[in-house]
Amino acid sequence: MNHALLIFVITLRLLKMAVADEGICPSTSMVDSGSDLKHLYWKVTNPTLSPSHLQDLPGFTRSVYKQDHALITPESHVFSPLPDWTLTLGAYLITPAMGSHFVMYLAKMQENSRSGLPPNDVERFIFVVQGAVTLTNVSGTSDKLTVDSYAYLPPNGDHSLRCDASATLVVFERRHVSLENQSTDQIIGSTDEQPLLETPGEVFQLRKLIPTSISYDFNIHIMDFQPGEYLNVKEVHYNQHGLLLLEGQGIYRLGDSWYPVQAGDVIWMAPFVPQWYAALGKHRTRYLLYKDVNRNPL
Ligand SMILES: *[C@@H]1O[C@H](CO)[C@@H](O)[C@H](O)[C@H]1NC(C)=O
Ligand SMILES: *[C@@H]1O[C@H](CO)[C@@H](O)[C@H](O)[C@H]1NC(C)=O
Repeated sequence: MNHALLIFVITLRLLKMAVADEGICPSTSMVDSGSDLKHLYWKVTNPTLSPSHLQDLPGFTRSVYKQDHALITPESHVFSPLPDWTLTLGAYLITPAMGSHFVMYLAKMQENSRSGLPPNDVERFIFVVQGAVTLTNVSGTSDKLTVDSYAYLPPNGDHSLRCDASATLVVFERRHVSLENQSTDQIIGSTDEQPLLETPGEVFQLRKLIPTSISYDFNIHIMDFQPGEYLNVKEVHYNQHGLLLLEGQGIYRLGDSWYPVQAGDVIWMAPFVPQWYAALGKHRTRYLLYKDVNRNPL
């Protein structure tokens, strides 16, 4: 084979792989990174497991677990069947065993899989990072959720997620702290439909996926940084965080440690851990962040 033919054949193969991986994602969730098409948040489900020169080093991981924070990188994710779900593998990444009041897990749904329900009084938030799922709620109405779409499901409401091909979701659940005469509603949306919000004193772009009204006891923020941008406030606060890096890379400061991080990494931040981020590299950083809000900490 001459060189041109070889390159043509390789390109064709890569394209085929990309197409097979795409499934039924809409064109809006594609990113053109160079010549080959990759769906949005592609790096989350196709991570670089370690720096290339350390790829094969036995026992090497970037993951750390400390009293007030954890970094859980993809080579440490351990999947097992999710209780109450069918044909779905889950990796619990943040749980109350660490001190959190919420769980955060990745759910890998296979062909013809179905979700289970959370325990009583537990609210659920799901965000699609790969593939597509169909959500059917208590009224029997179905909505299709593709990459970048999300749903908030109030506690004690019947619902089910179905997946025909494959999908990866990030899921947050917590016991809802209800207020008298207040209830929460199902929310369905996608990141790109959400308005950019004011971030006084900061340069990053902020979107919130859940209404800010008092009924809701947490929110999910989507934060975008261009390379070189960083948090001005060196935050220390009472709120807890669960973070999934969706795109990009940079340095996360947690307590007295500075961690190089990249798409696919998960971070647990306990209340009051000093935290700070700077985006590096050539591409935008986008991360998704759980934050408890609207409740008196007493
Ligand atoms: C809740 O609703 C009831 C009945 O309308 C009312 O009597 C009560 O004051 C309300 N409670 C609060 C905290 O608003
Ligand atoms: C079920 O989903 C439909 C469509 O998204 C929505 O209009 C309806 O309010 C939902 N039902 C409940 C009980 O949340």
